[in-house]
Amino acid sequence: MTKILSIANPTGGVGKSTSAHALATAFAEYGRRTLLVDFDPRATLTFILGINEPRFTTIDVLRSDARADSAIVSTNHRFSFLPSDSRLSHLSEEGKDFSGFVRRFEEELSTLDTAFDYVILDTPSELSRILLLSLALADFVLVPTTSSVLSMRGAIHVLELITATAEYRSTTPNFLGFLPAIGAQSSDLDQLHKYGELLDPAIAKSALVNEEALRQQSILNSAQQSAVSVAYRELAYFLLERM
Ligand SMILES: Nc1ncnc2c1ncn2[C@@H]1O[C@H](COP(=O)(O)OP(=O)(O)OP(=O)(O)O)[C@@H](O)[C@H]1O
Ligand SMILES: [Mg+2]
Repeated sequence: MTKILSIANPTGGVGKSTSAHALATAFAEYGRRTLLVDFDPRATLTFILGINEPRFTTIDVLRSDARADSAIVSTNHRFSFLPSDSRLSHLSEEGKDFSGFVRRFEEELSTLDTAFDYVILDTPSELSRILLLSLALADFVLVPTTSSVLSMRGAIHVLELITATAEYRSTTPNFLGFLPAIGAQSSDLDQLHKYGELLDPAIAKSALVNEEALRQQSILNSAQQSAVSVAYRELAYFLLERM
């Protein structure tokens, strides 16, 4: 069975895309067949991975305008990738019922020639219906957060949205925990303790992360022994045991 992991926090710049990219890289390193999905209309990962004007994107698959097979591209980083584009934002205006989208996405995954072990969704920074849909599709949810009040507030909002997915599916996704990202320490996130687990290790801050993103790389590829890479690998190992 393919397991779907949504990386979510409606607050911007908390390390969602970086974590999604790093975890896809680490899962693939551990030999898991991994699909990274850009579920953000701003298409950050599509840009970072250097995919220009993809023919089909996430919105086409959700609407059944394209088969997942023809939209998924291979990358030179061992994981596969489903790109995004700004049309994904139109989803917010389409119908109130997500059940159709959820069913179609599941069907598309199940009909692929290569079944994926894991699908990782990188989600947008807004309390939108797209974020809600990404949670409705997910089996598991990981919430990166920094120590800023807004970031922690966003993290708590995700828990409310997880509960709201009950409207679209019989089981709600499992919350895996809060990930202290971009230099946040667990001790900075004390207020979150009562809401759920704080994951270990925290992800250190390093200028290399951004430098490597500009070179269309994850830090895991180019600075394999850096503290950030080691932490993301350790996190990936832990998450694979949990999922
Ligand atoms: N561990 C880190 N150390 C230093 N910089 C980092 C780290 N992780 C992420 N960044 C940088 O912080 C910025 C925000 O990270 P990222 O894009 O992953 O967050 P996001 O939550 O996906 O943001 P958005 O709201 O734009 O979707 C980026 O410039 C990224 O390169
Ligand atoms: Mg992002």
